[in-house]
Parts: sequence; structure tokens; C-alpha cells
Amino acid sequence: MVVCFLIHTVGAVGALSPCESRVLYSRVFGVEEEDEELSGELEPEKRRLARKERLGVVARQVRSAVCLSREASGSVCVEAVLGEEAVALGEAECGVLSLGRGEPFAGPSVALWLGVQAMAFTMVCQPHENLLLAEGTLRNLTRHCLEELRLLGTGSEVLLKSDRVDAMLQRLLPHGQLLFLNNRFAQNLDKELSSYMSK
Ligand SMILES: *[C@@H]1O[C@H](CO)[C@@H](O)[C@H](O)[C@H]1NC(C)=O
Repeated sequence: MVVCFLIHTVGAVGALSPCESRVLYSRVFGVEEEDEELSGELEPEKRRLARKERLGVVARQVRSAVCLSREASGSVCVEAVLGEEAVALGEAECGVLSLGRGEPFAGPSVALWLGVQAMAFTMVCQPHENLLLAEGTLRNLTRHCLEELRLLGTGSEVLLKSDRVDAMLQRLLPHGQLLFLNNRFAQNLDKELSSYMSK
């Protein structure tokens, strides 16, 4: 089961900005969502803030991991170029972080991330998930986001087109379930998504 999916900023490569990460899109699934709802007395506004804070914790941890990974590999600054989404995805750094119980979700979890230029795409899963399948799904989601939403550049598009990201998640990650796809099905899904997005 996937716990959540996030699109957030990690800052330009080599930028001197403080450790901030702006969450541009987030979707929380299943158990975690129910937990939040059951945690009862909290008023909706407080619950919203608590959720925002939890997702912020994940985003900041991933941001630090992306920065460390870039320092370690001596990445040079690449400018965002529209139309070169496939190249950007090929050059993306990726990594895995293990998140303990309560850090910040109720149960232990694993965050997989892909750093693409100034943005990161993060998927948090329950620890027993098939991580290879999760990584494949994260790459596919990221590819669709980059291609269909033209996310390179400022990334602010996500804020405007979150319904499109919702639609992608509904197909590629229904209710937070990772899907094993055969090739035929995957190709149909790709086509269906592209035609939906071009509307
Ligand atoms: C990702 O997309 C490719 C191409 O459509 C497909 O072959 C593959 O099965 C997908 N992977 C996952 C994990 O969905």
C-alpha cells in the first residue's frame, strides 16, 4: 500500500537556499488517511495543518537527501529545458529513505524519491511493499507528470493542474495500490492518459 505521493521543490542544483521544500501536490491514501479521520476530535482545520506538517517533514527529508546525493555525485547545474522531459528523467537522481514509526506517519514507512532538476517526486510506501514495483510506478508517474504537464521550469503548473495529477494517480495507483501491468495494458494506459491529458 502506498501511503502518499508528493510533488515538491528541492531547489536548483547548487543553490544556496535554506532547507525549504515547497509541496506543490500531495495525495494521502488509505490507512493513513483513515487514521487521520479517526483521530477524531481534531477540527478539520487542525487536521489539515497536522497533515501539512507531516508531509512537510517528508519533503524536507527528501530535499536533504537529494542535496547530499548531488553533492556526493558532483552534479553540475542543469537548466530546465522544456521539451527535454525524457532527458531530465533519465538524469534524475533517485533514492530511498527509511522513515521510523511516527516519523512522521503512524507506522514505519519507506520514502522513494526521484530528483528531477528543481523538483522531487516522492512516494511513501509501507515497508513490506515491493520496492522495485514501487520505483517503476514512481518513474512512470513522474514521466507522465513531466510530459503531460510540462513541469520543468517553475513547477507552478502543478498547482493549477492538480486535477490532472489526480486522474493519473487514479489510473496508475488506484486507491494507493501498486499495479503489476503487462505490456499491453501499460501501453493502453499510456495512450489513454495521453489522450485524457491533451483534452
Ligand atoms: C511503466 O510504463 C512502462 C511503459 O508503458 C510499462 O512497460 C511498465 O510496465 C510500467 N511499470 C509499472 C511498474 O507500472
